[in-house]
Amino acid sequence: MPRTCARSEHGAYQKNLPLSRVWVRGEKRNVIHLGKTEFSAEGTCTLWCGMLPSSPVPEIPASLRANAFSNPEDKCAYLKEELLTGKVPWPMVMGGMGTGFSGPAAVRAVTRFGGIGTLTAAASGFPLRLRPEKLAEGKEERRLQFHEESRILLARQIAGIREEFPNEIVAANVMDILEDSHGTVDAIIASGGIDLVKIGAGLPRWAPERFAQADAKHVLYGVIVSSRTAAELVLRAAHKKGGRAPDFFYVELPQYAGGHLGQPKLEFVNDAQMHDPQRIRDEIRELTPDTPVLLGGGIGYRDQISRALGMGYQGVVMGTRCLLTQESGMPDETIRSKYLDPAVRTIEDARSPTDYPARRLDTPLTSPTIENMRAAMRYCVSCLKPGKCKYPETGMQEGGAYCIARDLAETWEGRTDGVLFTGSQRDTMLSDSLYHGQNGDRRVPTMEEALTYAFTHDAPPGARGLPT
Ligand SMILES: Cc1cc2nc3c(=O)[nH]c(=O)nc-3n(C[C@H](O)[C@H](O)[C@H](O)COP(=O)(O)O)c2cc1C
Repeated sequence: MPRTCARSEHGAYQKNLPLSRVWVRGEKRNVIHLGKTEFSAEGTCTLWCGMLPSSPVPEIPASLRANAFSNPEDKCAYLKEELLTGKVPWPMVMGGMGTGFSGPAAVRAVTRFGGIGTLTAAASGFPLRLRPEKLAEGKEERRLQFHEESRILLARQIAGIREEFPNEIVAANVMDILEDSHGTVDAIIASGGIDLVKIGAGLPRWAPERFAQADAKHVLYGVIVSSRTAAELVLRAAHKKGGRAPDFFYVELPQYAGGHLGQPKLEFVNDAQMHDPQRIRDEIRELTPDTPVLLGGGIGYRDQISRALGMGYQGVVMGTRCLLTQESGMPDETIRSKYLDPAVRTIEDARSPTDYPARRLDTPLTSPTIENMRAAMRYCVSCLKPGKCKYPETGMQEGGAYCIARDLAETWEGRTDGVLFTGSQRDTMLSDSLYHGQNGDRRVPTMEEALTYAFTHDAPPGARGLPT
């Protein structure tokens, strides 16, 4: 007969585990097993335990909500003399979510909370795809038009954010696999309005050289990695070319994170041992002892934040927690009807045209018909680096690639059955009281509400995120 038992932090009772943590009336408590276990006929079990004095999760340090300065000099000093030396934990950082999901409204809301908002600079011009009548006829002209539009929009968004927050720390996210990643970095540097750049979806071996140039001195840059090897390769590029080493790293855990995952092989994305955050932290410290490192993927609750800091990370990044808010670029209706519906599964697959595995909600996607393929190709803006898009080859096959430019733009506009990226912890979050109205209806919270919840609630048992 299957037997259920009180949950320990390992999800189930383990016989030889002397010390464990269980939930007692909604509170996590340390207990010592006294060796006696009784099973009832119904299959439930009682563990006889000695209760240890409750050991509350440490308070979240105030510096995780500290992004307000009275002038640019103070901000600069804080960045360089505190954050970059790893003396104080960083303000929480919102993950960059392209395209348009971590847009200006989300950045503003996170900044107001006291965190660091990350403006997505990943193909900001994607909405142009929604206005085919405006797209140029020739493929090359469309490509250039798309770059131009993306840079104009990005500059406008940065200027708008700076009007409200002239002195706060603002970050931007660049995806290296995009064709115009170098041009986007140039545009960010030229804007003068971004303090931190996080570069992901590829290994930007060119970045150390670019950021060593005189015009880039005012921007700090970090690289998103999921292993020691990736960090080492970027550091080597920095040393070889006399470039500037990354100012920080962001370790994104493929077993939990949303969107494209930094583990190229689908079969390994959920391998938590291969992507052990404690080991990766220690290894990066061996490579570069003083470089601050942030952790993200599967962080959405107070005890997970504490755990990340306890492992020696300087800060945390949250994606999905920020996505499921009114201010994100994800339409509220999509959050309500898909993200908060427990019947919609979270899956990982290799259908992104980039060839990176990705985590998303299980939706039907666009059918692989010749009409859909023709329409996508007619309006192709060559968003990915040459040779990197597998949509033309596999888009007509069942289970083949989707057109990311079309599908993300349509999701942003309100289509609910296209590409909906998510972190694994969404499965846990949708039970949070935060997302349920008084009448039991599904509710989309504000960023302030969502982040306050994350800072004050521990992960429930069996959470699909960072173990605590
Ligand atoms: C909808 C969505 C879009 C994302 N887009 C990007 C992106 O454009 N660039 C990037 O570096 N990471 C992207 N990510 C990853 C997030 O920045 C972040 O690292 C990750 O979601 C953290 O895991 P969490 O969702 O469990 O908090 C995306 C994540 C989501 C959920």
